[in-house]
Amino acid sequence: MNRIILGIETSCDDTSIAIIKDGKLLSNITFTSNDTNKKYGGIVPELSARFHCRYIDYAFWQCIKKAKIKINDITHIAYTFEPGLTGSLHIGKIFANQLAMLLNLKPIKINHNIAHIFSYFIDHHFEKNFFPFLTLIISGGNTFIALVSSFDEIKILNQTVDDAVGEVLDKIGRALKLPYPGGKSIDKIFNNKKNIDLFKHLSPNSKFSFAGLKTKILNIIIQKKYSKSTIASSVLNWIIIDLKMKLSYYLSMFPSVKNIIIGGGVSANSQLRKKLKTLKKVKCFFPTKIFANDNAAMIAKLADLKIANCKSKNVL
Ligand code: KG4
Repeated sequence: MNRIILGIETSCDDTSIAIIKDGKLLSNITFTSNDTNKKYGGIVPELSARFHCRYIDYAFWQCIKKAKIKINDITHIAYTFEPGLTGSLHIGKIFANQLAMLLNLKPIKINHNIAHIFSYFIDHHFEKNFFPFLTLIISGGNTFIALVSSFDEIKILNQTVDDAVGEVLDKIGRALKLPYPGGKSIDKIFNNKKNIDLFKHLSPNSKFSFAGLKTKILNIIIQKKYSKSTIASSVLNWIIIDLKMKLSYYLSMFPSVKNIIIGGGVSANSQLRKKLKTLKKVKCFFPTKIFANDNAAMIAKLADLKIANCKSKNVL
């Protein structure tokens, strides 16, 4: 029998539904509430939850149509159960549970951050000898490095004590009056030749912290001494150096590690992709750009990988 997995992602501001059949992505439909949120310069949780209510049904039917399957063909339902905005998560959970009841299935709970880690495999072949690997997840809500030894052995090594990288880029983008989301806009106006000397980086084994950088940059913006592009490029350079330095530190701690997977919305950044690829003695893997941001394909994919590769039912 075919394994047909429906993925549901509603953790933040994207309503996304995907279908994977025997490991292959058939469809991934995403509606983003960027337009609703952009007039506020950031995500308004209540508006995002209402957006999910409005679009989840439509996304589901579009996805079924594009995948050319019938509802009764679905063999598994996987949905994001944490972390995320409470109201947004709730819509996905209700949808998954109702559908599961109708189809007599047991919904599979997927952790959004772990799905980001494995998003590279949506369109790349997975093999068990990829383990153990290091991962760096950088998104609007999270920034962490972890050692991944198997699907259920994931050890967080470093995690931000304050802001996430995407959050910093979005807030600086808003202060610079760049189009929302700021991270994407900063990527577009980056110019390597322009750089302001910012403060020194903390030691490589210190915890991630970006709130100080954000405050410093917001003060620089008020001074009106530098162009938007100079400020944006300096911030991005500072962050990339920090991420690279910390990754190098953990690589030296785990010499058997040969692979790094970068994930999360900020992993779409072109400078970051270029500069992290120069890390020595490891291969750096990035998800295909369309799968860097939140999407349901990664939710369905993680469920699919676990079903295919884990003998123990406890991992689901
Ligand atoms: O993973 P994601 O879609 O949502 C969560 O936060 O979970 O990440 C969104 C973040 C936003 O902060 C956005 O500005 C950032 O990803 N982002 C980028 C780029 N595209 C999206 N940051 C830097 N460069 C980009 N090209």
